[in-house]
Amino acid sequence: MRIFMDTANIDEIRRGAALGVVDGVTTNPTLVAKEGVQYRDRIMEICEVVDGPISAECISTEYDALVEEARRVAAWHPNVVVKIPMGEVGLQAIKTVSAEGIRVNTTLVFSANQALLAAKAGAAFVSPFVGRLNDAGHDGMEVIREIVAVFDTFNLPTQVLAASIRNPRDVTEAALAGSHVATLPPAVLFSMIQHPLTDKGIEIFLNDAKKYTPV
Ligand code: E4P
Repeated sequence: MRIFMDTANIDEIRRGAALGVVDGVTTNPTLVAKEGVQYRDRIMEICEVVDGPISAECISTEYDALVEEARRVAAWHPNVVVKIPMGEVGLQAIKTVSAEGIRVNTTLVFSANQALLAAKAGAAFVSPFVGRLNDAGHDGMEVIREIVAVFDTFNLPTQVLAASIRNPRDVTEAALAGSHVATLPPAVLFSMIQHPLTDKGIEIFLNDAKKYTPV
């Protein structure tokens, strides 16, 4: 499973990239607004740090404007993947720009039916929001499993990108469900490294290593 970082914070992205296990980055208007930077500037900075798909979200709500925005955003950098929200206009725009070779990440996906439509429109990724589904009383991971099963059944090339991940267990569950990608808030990524038994084991080994002459 590929691991993306779900943040627009450049310091966290640099720290994550240094681990050597980050394959891409997803952003959204809320994440960029938190940073107090211009969207394009931040996406260009991220592209310098991570060599992989970098999702940048479109905000137009009319078909013509959305298609024009998607083309403009996609031209920022070859690694940019255009995020388009699920919906009637969104699907039409996904169909148009995907046919032009622009990679689309369909965002705000909450059901297998929405994912199927996005895949049929040609989206490169669909982003089911696991945490927000759970918050609303649904089973977010079950939606991931359903989408993976549908895409597998019909050999659809669209990748499932588990989004709105809230804790390390979600990552394990997404991997077990066969999600192609999970996008993680920095805190979740860094907490995956930790285990109390690892810390304890290191402490014991370092103490025992004092009992002999190092090579
Ligand atoms: C996905 O690409 C979104 O940016 C993100 O995962 C949303 O997560 P949230 O529900 O924690 O805001």
